Amino acid sequence: MNKTEELKKAAGIKAVDFIHSGMLVGLGTGSTAEFAIEELSKRIKDGRFSDISCVPSSERTRNFAEALGLDLVPLDSERKIDVTIDGADEIDTGFNLIKGGGGALLREKVLAQNSERNIIVADESKLSKRLGERFPVPVEVLEFALEVEKGYLESLGGETCLRLTRDGFPFLTDQGNFIVDWGSGEMEDPSCFAERLSKRAGIVEHGLFIGTASDVIIGSARGVEHLVPGEPG
Ligand code: A5P
Repeated sequence: MNKTEELKKAAGIKAVDFIHSGMLVGLGTGSTAEFAIEELSKRIKDGRFSDISCVPSSERTRNFAEALGLDLVPLDSERKIDVTIDGADEIDTGFNLIKGGGGALLREKVLAQNSERNIIVADESKLSKRLGERFPVPVEVLEFALEVEKGYLESLGGETCLRLTRDGFPFLTDQGNFIVDWGSGEMEDPSCFAERLSKRAGIVEHGLFIGTASDVIIGSARGVEHLVPGEPG
């Protein structure tokens, strides 16, 4: 395991300390979330947790969690998710996020909006001053609207790139849509861009997560840091 993976693992494991028996848990997507899912499964198997149900944020996570034997349930209007643990591609100083590097941003946002607590786990390389500094914004777009939405994004500045698979075919999300990676450049006010993108009919969802994180757990060379929006780090 390389250093970055070690930091991701440390953050993922720490996040599981916030789970208790009886909880409904949202499972994020990506390598850091998977470290947390593995730890969750371990603590269920060794008896530290009981009566845990989980909602996965992607087919990838569903397969991963199923293989570990976790109890998976659908979203339920009667019961909010207690804690969701998810990764991020970039985290700014205001705890806004870019997500969707794994293409799962739509279901991840659904989970974030239906969870009491959203714990973001990442290694320290994901921290930046302003969103857009180091990662493009993944935007889930209807195939029908691909060219016009690419044009719209470029009209806001920056460049766009249709995400492809290793074989050179368009990457398809779990909903069968395309992902356009929008190199927005640094965003002074990401919420303003989030509002603009949300208004476009051909944009199914975008990877700007504004104000959804309740906790950020960072694996860093100094150890694991637990950051809470509004509290000094
Ligand atoms: C998945 O769509 C993303 O939002 C991931 O949470 C993000 O790409 C983080 O991935 P890693 O944990 O693998 O870096």
